[in-house]
Amino acid sequence: MRLIILGAGGHAKVLIELWRALGTHQLVGCLSDGPAPAQLLGLPVLGGTAELERLRAEGIEAACIAIGANAARQRLGQQALALGFALPPALHPAAILSPSAVVGAGAQVLAGTIVAAEARIDPLALLNHGAILDHDGVLGPAAHAAPHSTMAGGVRVGARALLGVGAQVKPGVSIGDDAVVGVGAAVVADVAPGATVAGVPAREQGPCP
Ligand SMILES: CC(C)(COP(=O)(O)OP(=O)(O)OC[C@H]1O[C@@H](n2cnc3c(N)ncnc32)[C@H](O)[C@@H]1OP(=O)(O)O)[C@@H](O)C(=O)NCCC(=O)NCCS
Repeated sequence: MRLIILGAGGHAKVLIELWRALGTHQLVGCLSDGPAPAQLLGLPVLGGTAELERLRAEGIEAACIAIGANAARQRLGQQALALGFALPPALHPAAILSPSAVVGAGAQVLAGTIVAAEARIDPLALLNHGAILDHDGVLGPAAHAAPHSTMAGGVRVGARALLGVGAQVKPGVSIGDDAVVGVGAAVVADVAPGATVAGVPAREQGPCP
């Protein structure tokens, strides 16, 4: 199956190497609406996302949304699905994934991650390098758990929320939709939707700019 990468930045490089390591899809190129090089790790940049419809008509079956920004990843994912692209989950061969975990369409589970029993990774969510989603946890739609963040058992992360690099979340805590948790935070209580928290223990910082 042929696959197009949406995005041509650093995260796209990570996903190109992931798909190459998997060997399950033939990569045809990248699309980018921003400034982009002519090629990325040897893969041509074929234009902007306006090309999606044409590529689908030409028979490209699958897409991967290689964009770190959560809302943009979700929006482009929905656009690709509406055009009829499949969004296969990107599961790095060096991720440790419980057989009872559930992973949604377009989700990305990078190298060195651990996903424990009956955890759920929703569509277009991103579990970044070395992050841990322990048993019964939920990483919501298009949420991002940054490198080496740790979600203990039963943690729920809402849609499009960002858990910063190395943040730690106490068992059973819920993080609301669109919330932001700062680098290195220790989250010991629920976080309201849209809130920004940081520090040890994590305290509200006011709205994210
Ligand atoms: C918490 C965060 C959202 C704040 O961003 P911001 O509003 O732009 O904050 P600023 O950088 O202007 O810093 C504001 C203050 O908060 C402090 N601060 C920033 N991040 C902090 C953190 N993670 N923990 C503790 N304090 C922090 C700054 O030192 C500064 O303090 P000061 O006013 O006393 O100088 C951001 O720093 C952060 O941690 N984002 C997560 C990034 C991330 O992990 N991305 C994933 C990449 S893969």
